[in-house]
Amino acid sequence: MKQLNKLATAMIPNNGGELVLLQREDEFSIKLSGARGVLMNSRVYNSEQELAKLGCAHIKNKESADVLVGGLGMGYTLATALACVTASSRVTVAELIPEVVEWNQGPLGECAGKPLADERSHVRLGDIAELIKQQKPDFDAILLDVDNGPEGMTNSENNWLYSSAGLSALYNSLRPEGMLAVWSAGPDSMFITQLKKAGFKVSNKMVRARPGKGSRHTIFLAKKP
Ligand SMILES: C[S@@+](CC[C@H](N)C(=O)[O-])C[C@H]1O[C@@H](n2cnc3c(N)ncnc32)[C@H](O)[C@@H]1O
Repeated sequence: MKQLNKLATAMIPNNGGELVLLQREDEFSIKLSGARGVLMNSRVYNSEQELAKLGCAHIKNKESADVLVGGLGMGYTLATALACVTASSRVTVAELIPEVVEWNQGPLGECAGKPLADERSHVRLGDIAELIKQQKPDFDAILLDVDNGPEGMTNSENNWLYSSAGLSALYNSLRPEGMLAVWSAGPDSMFITQLKKAGFKVSNKMVRARPGKGSRHTIFLAKKP
């Protein structure tokens, strides 16, 4: 088996630890330093794509639609969002860790087809919560994949996003009939209740990690009426 090479590391804000970028031939992975499993692997991205397909289905023909993606990761959700929206649309990606953006501007960017090079993509470096707290109804879709589910993982500050204040701010950041789509490693009935309390009309969909196989992930779909 070919050797696994450590390409780079990055510190996660708020004492979240260290991210490590690894490469074995054309396969990349990102893991938390010291943890056994990987956070992301460039060969496993079906549910990240489904997040964008499901979250943007209602705007596929809309001119000048605005989509917010958080965060960038390996770029699969961003790339799929770009493929799902019209040529006049704009997809903003909020990413907390500057090095993740740099990695995607380098060889890692090839995995998802260099979505940052698309002139419709715009990077917003920093915490997506800062954008959401402005509560400007600027987005037709918000695609959230910053944690393993509706609970802060790499960044403990992310818990705010899933609180009633955070969900209310997400609601207020959407245009009428806008869609909030949230990636999760599994189901969470409490989160559905919280989304409904915030005013959303909610459904969820089970998707597989790889097309037709692999782990079962959940996409929460919360529509602003
Ligand atoms: C699981 S990855 C996203 C994977 C992505 N959907 C894809 O297709 O590759 C999570 C990303 O969210 C970023 N992140 C975590 N918390 C964030 C926050 N509060 N604001 C912006 N980005 C955040 C992480 O640095 C990481 O790049």
